[in-house]
Amino acid sequence: MGFFRELGDRVVGAPSILSADFANLAEEVRRAENGGAEIVHFDVMDNHFVPNLTVGPAVAASLVRATDLPVDAHLQVMRPDSLIPAFIAAGVASISVQPEVTVHLHRTLLMIRAAGLEAGCALNPTTPPEILEWAWPHLDYVNVMSVNPGFGGQAFISEMADKVQRLREITDLPIQVDGGITAETAPLMVRAGARVLVAGSAVYRGDPTTEMRSIIEAGREAAEEL
Ligand code: DX5
Ligand code: ZN
Repeated sequence: MGFFRELGDRVVGAPSILSADFANLAEEVRRAENGGAEIVHFDVMDNHFVPNLTVGPAVAASLVRATDLPVDAHLQVMRPDSLIPAFIAAGVASISVQPEVTVHLHRTLLMIRAAGLEAGCALNPTTPPEILEWAWPHLDYVNVMSVNPGFGGQAFISEMADKVQRLREITDLPIQVDGGITAETAPLMVRAGARVLVAGSAVYRGDPTTEMRSIIEAGREAAEEL
């Protein structure tokens, strides 16, 4: 099984370490875990697909050793295939790639799954859900980017709630939302069908325990009203 396959209809919070203090990652994750986080979102950027540069498999391996939470790697990189074996060796639980720059997506998803990890695709704001039509059998989750990948702290793109809704109509897989997620925007995405709430700046701008908890609670309240 795996985190996404076992999720069911639950709403969960995922701190994005992009906005955390990288010199104190383990502690930053623990603080979000105390607020109810159940999975860690690990953003990998290459200064090619996106203009930013973050961390790679070595840091992922250290974080995997330092936390009991599953680590979910979001690869915002060109040619993800050459990095995937190192992330598998690092012990991450799941890997998502961007189909816009993954030339042989079928092979890439099979590579992730062959190692026993869960496989996801993250969609840029203008990438239609239909790009996944022939990928569904090989996917465990979808990430709807509600900002352009590359940076934390950007403004939420509200029409991405419509994309979540469209995805909900065509798949039962868990939908993760990533970008501009706060206690204010989380309910819109949950009502549309999202279940995994990734939040970076909204968690780490204040006390991560309090901020994570308030995002999860806002999302769960919205789910209860459905
Ligand atoms: C953006 C990353 C996000 C980022 C979100 O490229 O994929 O995971 O950390 O940051 P916020 O929550 O600040 O929009
Ligand atoms: Zn991300």
